[in-house]
Amino acid sequence: MSAPKILVIDDDKNLLELAKAKLNAANYAVTVALDEHAALDVANTESFDLAIVDWRLAELDGVTLMEKLHAVDPGMPVIILTGHASVEGAVEAMKRGAYTYLTKPFDPRELILQIDRALESCKLATENQRLKGLLKEKYDFANLVAKSDKMQRVLEAVSRIAKTDSTVYIHGESGTGKEMIAKAIHLASPRKDKAFVAINCAAIPETLLESELFGHEKGAFTGAVRSTKGLFTQANDGTLFLDEVGDMPLSIQVKLLRALEERQFYPVGGEKPVQVDVRVVVATKKDLVDEVKKGLFREDLFYRIHVIPIILPPLKDRIEDIPYLVDHLLKKICQQMKRDVKGVTPKAMEKLMQHDWPGNVRELENTLEYAVTMTQRDVVTDDLVLQTKLPVGAVATENSLQAQLLPTDGAFKTLKEARSEFERAYLVRLLHSCNGKATRAAEIAGKYRADFYDLLKKHDIKLADYKRFN
Ligand SMILES: Nc1ncnc2c1ncn2[C@@H]1O[C@H](COP(=O)(O)OP(=O)(O)OP(=O)(O)O)[C@@H](O)[C@H]1O
Ligand SMILES: [Mg+2]
Repeated sequence: MSAPKILVIDDDKNLLELAKAKLNAANYAVTVALDEHAALDVANTESFDLAIVDWRLAELDGVTLMEKLHAVDPGMPVIILTGHASVEGAVEAMKRGAYTYLTKPFDPRELILQIDRALESCKLATENQRLKGLLKEKYDFANLVAKSDKMQRVLEAVSRIAKTDSTVYIHGESGTGKEMIAKAIHLASPRKDKAFVAINCAAIPETLLESELFGHEKGAFTGAVRSTKGLFTQANDGTLFLDEVGDMPLSIQVKLLRALEERQFYPVGGEKPVQVDVRVVVATKKDLVDEVKKGLFREDLFYRIHVIPIILPPLKDRIEDIPYLVDHLLKKICQQMKRDVKGVTPKAMEKLMQHDWPGNVRELENTLEYAVTMTQRDVVTDDLVLQTKLPVGAVATENSLQAQLLPTDGAFKTLKEARSEFERAYLVRLLHSCNGKATRAAEIAGKYRADFYDLLKKHDIKLADYKRFN
């Protein structure tokens, strides 16, 4: 670490020389000034860790000079040097922002001790500020589960880049949390109180995308009965999230490039350029380098948006996140569905951790939502998560359960029929997972044994078909 920089201001040359020698010997970098003009000149061009100011200066009193120095650097500690007579005044100086005072002639050891203390407390104050900032960030990231090292590194990057205005490029498979990260960047940025505007470039037809992004003037095209502000304008001072940017048609890519380069654009049919201050975050699941090679994505735009890349790892590469995600997502789902499912059984967790998750966190969320819908208990059991391979003849799989709810040949079944089919499929699946143990199955289904047997009878299900001997 470089030596702390100290500015000493006194109109007594001898004192300055003495102070300089002593402080240099104690490894401080010292700058001296004989009057307030010299002091303010150097304080305006350099930054100091601490200042020592004489109480009685020729033109300006020391306290007024201190206040001027604080106007340049409010956090810099100032030590006031006083003669015996002005101790009272020195106390007043402390009220007005001095760190402490020393009476002349001072003991150099005492001065060094006070400097060390002042610098230490200043460091603590900065650290506190930083911690407060971190806490706030943590709060903003409260909904983001990131236990694994890989995700921790992503969050660190998010914290660092949030403060800048650079374009961020988020790459990740579908469902890895790209939109969540884009929002986290916005929330951790100085723009957090302004708009976060998102658009999915893949979901909007080419003919509408340009006016959606940049707005249009009245009469610009058939149907443009009034002029409309585009998303760039709506996101002014805030963040614009361009999702699936890889799917943007080439004709719009060139306009986006110009808007990013010039920070201004022309609305469709407009002649006056519109200026905006927008932070752009883009996301894609496509390999854009590949798209560039294929001629489907402009190379110049790629370099323009590929300023700060963030790569979101697929869920299978960070399975240590799964238990925390399960916990977090279950709470979220239960809140939405007004259910009270407390967790998943160890066996179910094992299954969740062994799965490949091609659909990543979104697939995990859907799997849990399905399980919460299906379970009648306050835990999710392993039979309710992911597909079990059923023996030939047993037809109930997650998909077939869903198929029963959907119309076949365009015609809906009656609710009674659908309910009955669902009930049968449910029982088959349940018995399979319980190895045909009726007591256990009845318990999971939340039925009395006798009622459960009635249900089996109604659907002509035989327990023996589900008993496995191994
Ligand atoms: N780290 C995480 N912590 C908590 N929830 C997450 C996390 N990552 C993703 N999710 C949740 O998973 C779902 C999918 O996330 P998101 O929409 O951000 O992904 P995406 O990469 O944009 O997906 P897609 O490619 O399908 O657009 C959301 O409901 C989100 O809340
Ligand atoms: Mg998305």
